[in-house]
Amino acid sequence: MCGIVGYVGPRDAIDVLLDGLTRLEYRGYDSAGLAAVQDGEVKILRSVGKIINLKDSLRETPLVGTPGIGHTRWATHGRPSEENAHPHKVNGVTVVHNGIIENYVELREELVAQGQVFSSETDTEIIAHLIERRLADGDDPMQALRHTLSVVRGSYAVAVLLEQTPDRLYAARLASPLVLGRGDGENFIASDIPAILSYTRSMLFLEDGEIAELSAEGIRIENATGETVQRQPKNITWSAAMAEKEGYKHFMLKEINEQPRAITDTLRGRISLEHGDVTLDEVPLLTPEAIAGIRRILIIACGTSYHAGLVGRLWIEKFSGIPAEVDLGSEFRYRDPLLSPDTLVVSISQSGETADTLAAVKTAKEEGCKVLSICNVVDSSIARTSDGVLYTHAGPEIGVASTKAFTTQLTALYLLALAMGKATGGLSTQELAIKVDALAKVPGLVEHALHSDAAIRDVAERYYRASDFLYLGRWLNYPIALEGALKLKEISYIHAEGYPAGEMKHGPIALIDEHMPVVVIAPRDKVYEKIVSNLQEAKARHAVVIAVGEEGDNELREHAEEFIPMPACSEESLTPLLTVVPLQMLSYHIADIKGTDVDQPRNLAKSVTVE
Ligand code: AGP
Repeated sequence: MCGIVGYVGPRDAIDVLLDGLTRLEYRGYDSAGLAAVQDGEVKILRSVGKIINLKDSLRETPLVGTPGIGHTRWATHGRPSEENAHPHKVNGVTVVHNGIIENYVELREELVAQGQVFSSETDTEIIAHLIERRLADGDDPMQALRHTLSVVRGSYAVAVLLEQTPDRLYAARLASPLVLGRGDGENFIASDIPAILSYTRSMLFLEDGEIAELSAEGIRIENATGETVQRQPKNITWSAAMAEKEGYKHFMLKEINEQPRAITDTLRGRISLEHGDVTLDEVPLLTPEAIAGIRRILIIACGTSYHAGLVGRLWIEKFSGIPAEVDLGSEFRYRDPLLSPDTLVVSISQSGETADTLAAVKTAKEEGCKVLSICNVVDSSIARTSDGVLYTHAGPEIGVASTKAFTTQLTALYLLALAMGKATGGLSTQELAIKVDALAKVPGLVEHALHSDAAIRDVAERYYRASDFLYLGRWLNYPIALEGALKLKEISYIHAEGYPAGEMKHGPIALIDEHMPVVVIAPRDKVYEKIVSNLQEAKARHAVVIAVGEEGDNELREHAEEFIPMPACSEESLTPLLTVVPLQMLSYHIADIKGTDVDQPRNLAKSVTVE
């Protein structure tokens, strides 16, 4: 997830672009760049790191001109570097892009075969080459853009500058966000409203597959077949600060609501509904031959990522039949683990910078193990140290309490387990197709789960004064009990414990009385009967039960003081991706009511880079 911005009008574009990029920095901050028309020629300036570095470069190498385009990057293809930073220019064509081009490898091979020379590792540069080719073949700018985008697969929001039409900008989108700002004698392009809100409140939203031509006088929109589209502008009432949160009070709440999109992006190009299949070709470690050599899997992570690992282990063992264990990064290297080259180590980290996990990865490599990492930050330390990386596409996660990164880690782990089950024969073709079909429905089900927000706020209003909480789950949802408790602890500062429900009678049941809310996670899976009897045990000790269960489960509703519905899922192995959402929301609302600093809780940091 990157940030793009564009300006056409009488002002010097550079000031407008820098201002916009600064407001979009939360979208990605590993490199940035600008391009502007100066005496009919497009000049470019790029730098690695945060926008502040680009401002420093501008002081050394001043750039003025208009129109212009800018970009702040969250790397997906090609490590953060000046060459891979946007804009990318090919002859008179300059492009900035937010999204993922799935078929970039084959398009690149075709272009290289036609003699095109690439200067970066990015998927984005493909677009500049393709437009340049089409213009050379006689297309006008809008035709060239339309034809180019008809051959790329994936998601994109692009802004384009052409030296042959130096007084205008071009824009297009598919699945990635893009808004056009209408000004008085000037017009704007942005990934998000915050970038241009201080210049105009009149916004035009491009639909998927549409392209636009912007001049200082106006904006012309065309659909995928070249017909002109009339679109009414919307007037935005938000403050700039609010807009960065897209109207949400906190980044955490925004990120909870971004989960359907984040999961969709993490699945993109990795499952095929048509063939009922999963493909993780981007990770050489996961070829059938490589998987055949794996005798044991060791998952290593910390905090929320560790909880994802606990769920992943159950999926991997169940689908592939390969024994798997999970270890805390901070404990791993001090227990002198038994490692051998036929052990695949899987490390999980949102930031890719967590010191304990990084050290564990290094220890595993020293012992001759191959390391596969599941990371959200491209080219982070753990990613660089690993032999292979399966990236989650949650986008930058700004709230310290991890939410969308967790559900995308679960998504990546499920994909990994399916791929291993397919390679080992642990899953038949039919079983695989059923699970792939169910997985593709998860974003919609999570969207549905988000609709319980108001009901969960009411529950939070009744229990935010509690001093202790107990979370109970079984099988796949025991780790979700741990995660629910961690979320509450992190942001509300209330003591909370997640516990395997069957273990409760061996001790923690002594804690229970009428002041103790007990959150019971009870989807209708193979352990449903068991968890309901554990619920009864707690109730017998006067616990106040908050049950998370499937819509329409009146039996469970009757047993509990509070019932939080979640959508039913045809595939019981996928329930953790749904049960966690109401727990994230419950912790959010309790913390919000208590007035704690939800996005930057005390004593915590987004990535713990010290031991
Ligand atoms: C989760 O909400 C916390 N921020 C924390 O437990 C986090 O999961 C842990 O520090 C691991 O971080 P990582 O995924 O970036 O490695």
